Amino acid sequence: MENDTIRGFIYLLAATLAIVVIAIIAAVNLTHKQVVVDEEAVSQRIMPVAQLSIATASGGTDAERTGEQLYQAACIACHATGAAGAPKIGDNAAWGPRLKLGLSGLLKSATSGKNAMPPKGGSDANETELARAIVYMANKSGGSLKEPAAK
Ligand code: HEC
Repeated sequence: MENDTIRGFIYLLAATLAIVVIAIIAAVNLTHKQVVVDEEAVSQRIMPVAQLSIATASGGTDAERTGEQLYQAACIACHATGAAGAPKIGDNAAWGPRLKLGLSGLLKSATSGKNAMPPKGGSDANETELARAIVYMANKSGGSLKEPAAK
C-alpha cells in the first residue's frame, strides 16, 4: 500500500513535469511566432513611408525651380553681397553694361562661368531655371528681360 502511494506520487510528478515542459515549449513557440509576425507587420507599416521618402528624394530635383527659388538657393551667396566682384542684385550700375549682352549672352556666360563666377553658379540648374534666375536678378537691377517659357 505504501509502495503504491509512492509510485502514484512519482507518476503524478512525472506527468506534471511533462506538462510543464510541454507548456514551456508551447510558450516559447508562441512568443517566437509573435515576434516574427510583429517584424513583418512593422516592416509593412513603415514601407509606404520608406517608398515615399525615396520618391521625394528622386522627384525633388525634377520639379523646375522659379528664378527666385534658384536665386535663393544658388546665386544669393555671391549676388546679394557682391562677393568676388559679382554684380549685386539691385545694383543697376553693375548690371547696366551686362544687360547689353541680352538674355542669351548672359545665359551663355552664366552657363560656362566667367572669372570668379562658377559654371551655373555651382548649381545643378537646367537651362530654363538658370535663365529664370538671370531674369529675376537682372529685372531687379534695371533690366526688363523676358522670362523664357518652360520647355
Ligand atoms: C561663387 C560666387 C557666385 C555664385 C554662387 C554665382 N555667381 Fe554669378 N557671378 C559671380 C561673379 C564674380 C560674376 C562676375 C564675373 C565677371 O564678370 O568677372 C558673376 C556674374 C554673373 C552674371 C553676369 C555674366 C556676364 O556675362 O556679365 C550672371 C548673369 C550671373 N552671374 C548669374 C548667376 C546665377 C544665375 C547664379 C545662380 C545660379 C550665380 N550667378 C551664382 C559670382 C557668382
